[in-house]
Amino acid sequence: MVVPYSAEPATDFTIEENKKAFKAALEEVKNDLGIKRPLVIGGEHIETEDQITSYNPSDKEQVVGHVSKATQKHIDDAFQAAEEAFETWSEWDPEDRAALLIRVAAIIRRRKHEFSALMVYEAGKPWNEADGDTNEGIDFIEYYARSMMELADGKPVLDREGEHNKYFYQPMGAGVTITPWNFPFAIMTGTTVAPIIAGNTVLLKPAEDTPLIAYKLIEVLEEAGLPKGVVNFVTGDSGVIGDYMVDHHKTHFITFTGSKGTGLRINERASVVQEGQHFLKRVITEMGGKDTIIVDKDADLDLAADSIVNSAFGFAGQKCSAGSRAVIHEDVYDEVLKKSIELTKELTVGNPVDETYMGPVISQKQFDMIKGYIDIGKEEGELKIGGETDDSKGYFIKPTIFADLDPKARIMQEEIFGPVVAFAKAKDFDEMLDIANNTVYGLTGSVITNTREHWIKAQKKFHVGNLYLNRGCTAAVMGYHPFGGFKLSGTDQKTGSPDYLLNFLEQKVISEMF
Ligand code: SER
Repeated sequence: MVVPYSAEPATDFTIEENKKAFKAALEEVKNDLGIKRPLVIGGEHIETEDQITSYNPSDKEQVVGHVSKATQKHIDDAFQAAEEAFETWSEWDPEDRAALLIRVAAIIRRRKHEFSALMVYEAGKPWNEADGDTNEGIDFIEYYARSMMELADGKPVLDREGEHNKYFYQPMGAGVTITPWNFPFAIMTGTTVAPIIAGNTVLLKPAEDTPLIAYKLIEVLEEAGLPKGVVNFVTGDSGVIGDYMVDHHKTHFITFTGSKGTGLRINERASVVQEGQHFLKRVITEMGGKDTIIVDKDADLDLAADSIVNSAFGFAGQKCSAGSRAVIHEDVYDEVLKKSIELTKELTVGNPVDETYMGPVISQKQFDMIKGYIDIGKEEGELKIGGETDDSKGYFIKPTIFADLDPKARIMQEEIFGPVVAFAKAKDFDEMLDIANNTVYGLTGSVITNTREHWIKAQKKFHVGNLYLNRGCTAAVMGYHPFGGFKLSGTDQKTGSPDYLLNFLEQKVISEMF
């Protein structure tokens, strides 16, 4: 009997001992910078000449490490290995697969600061965000392991005179997991482990900006005794192997988290039945967001400002759940704006090794894109604070607030994925809801109100997958807040939900006559 699931607690960095331990982990990881990591195909470690170099976004000169680059031939080999491994792995008892993964979680838990510290260097994550990322990775494993145990015997169906029936779940085959750089451990782990706990095998292609933290999972899977070929690690250029993996006739499923553009492309390509393919591919996508915090006229205004600022600037706004729009009742608009500006002034920005609130953005590409949106914001609204950018050493952007936006302005409509929040005024609650719903996205949202009728209305009319009352719109916790969005935010298959593993299982019925 396993203990019931509970979420991994956050590390309290105000406790001196925890701080010391984390600093020691940062030092240890620093000594390891420059490491080389291979592809892993069928358990074989393959080092290629051509490599991806991962740099520290806080310090562009600092090399975090190198990983090999897979070619299309490597992808063919990886599918071959995954298909072979599937033959035996799919036959393991679900309980045995789950137990192995619980061992994986235990190993990560023991070494958790080492994982988080690597994300401080490789992803520019502040301490608490890195800690949250590692913890969420552990949560995914623990949660899905129990979920698999619950699904192991299928669900009851009726028998009748002379007939016995069974309804149960079975794995599908080999598939592809493509993961983002913004939760480079948590989402990568969750979307790799869910299909394998269900008995499938996987080709994992982690984001090109954060491959080294992904390799940490591979190390632990090997240490825990995962059979060879169950997870194949294929780092490489998206332009060379991305479409090839999605199009491959052996891919049963594709689970993708990333941009809307790439997600839509995957969805379209995966719908084409390739030569030699004798099944339909399943696509699970988590794409973007343009998430809104609504502030009602009777709201707690300190809570409103705190929710807006932390949802907008946590991890420099690089979350699909980030609150990038604040839509505020006209009676309290000026006050909430003022309070938000005051809170923003207190935020520290810099290399997160030094325990800053906000680090850099991930890359030159993202930096340039966000800077472009800041220029657009200056034309569309009034810059209230921030707006400064500096890429001389790392990719730093000050937390930025724009006010008085038209709801249709570009910075109110397009995902920026950076530390920029746009404020708009509304005359009543209905208008706030209309503005909140006026984008192509539908991921998260918050309502800050003390009017119960408004909350009840929002539950029906605020069209997002994750809606929160009187709190920010980020930081879903596995087991408590299954996560995923409507509209063009994705397929809404809710990671960390009791139904999530069904995405990677086929339902079978057997009927026996006596
Ligand atoms: N699950 C994260 C959050 O809720 C986003 O991916 O912030």
